[in-house]
Amino acid sequence: MFSGINKQTKSTTTPGRLVSLGLQHGDALEAFLSEFDADPHELQGYFCGRSTPIEQAVGLLDAWSQGERLIETTVRGEPVAQDWVQNSTWFWEFDTRLQGVINLRHRLTPALEQEGGHIGYSVARSFRRQGVASKMLGAVLDHCRELGIQQTLLTCGSDNVASIGTIEKHGGVLHREDWSEPSHQILRWYWIDLENT
Ligand SMILES: CC(C)(COP(=O)(O)OP(=O)(O)OC[C@H]1O[C@@H](n2cnc3c(N)ncnc32)[C@H](O)[C@@H]1OP(=O)(O)O)[C@@H](O)C(=O)NCCC(=O)NCCS
Repeated sequence: MFSGINKQTKSTTTPGRLVSLGLQHGDALEAFLSEFDADPHELQGYFCGRSTPIEQAVGLLDAWSQGERLIETTVRGEPVAQDWVQNSTWFWEFDTRLQGVINLRHRLTPALEQEGGHIGYSVARSFRRQGVASKMLGAVLDHCRELGIQQTLLTCGSDNVASIGTIEKHGGVLHREDWSEPSHQILRWYWIDLENT
């Protein structure tokens, strides 16, 4: 079962590691989230509310990663979609700071195929251009392999050069580029083939 997969994944080649949110992260989470206050739309991959207490956030993320409490919870104050799927959230932690967040949907739905894909992420402004997103994505692709997800879908805005760079560094192959009605932008759909890697 997925909850049995490492709560922490050590990287031997990069500073920092992928961690699950814990009760000890209260101050670090507040510092991380505050970096998105200027532009909350940039916070991707974290679905608790901005002011959700740490105890509640830890409980929600843990429940979602185990496929529990999927429909009776809320996402940023709104009831979750009926097709809200099992999903796991990790943070990139280095030197007691949370630098990035990444969320893995365990399976696709028609809505996620249209927008969102398997994986969403964001990095706090203070830590961008330091390889954090690349490191997080690489570590989560390992979790995809463990879950048997052989083809991983990622979507991003066609003008999001930072995300495009991150996805292409991990072998993302552009499948299509098209207008997306839900987000009112031109979107790119990338697949990363994990079958032979
Ligand atoms: C997208 C985002 C997560 C990238 O995080 P990051 O940690 O800065 O990315 P990395 O440092 O790992 O960069 C990976 C590659 O992307 C490209 N890249 C990153 N930022 C870039 C920028 N500002 N301009 C051009 N290319 C950029 C580069 O090719 C880079 O590789 P390189 O440094 O070896 O050249 C970050 O910009 C962010 O949080 N944006 C807001 C949320 C978001 O857009 N999330 C993705 C939704 S699809």
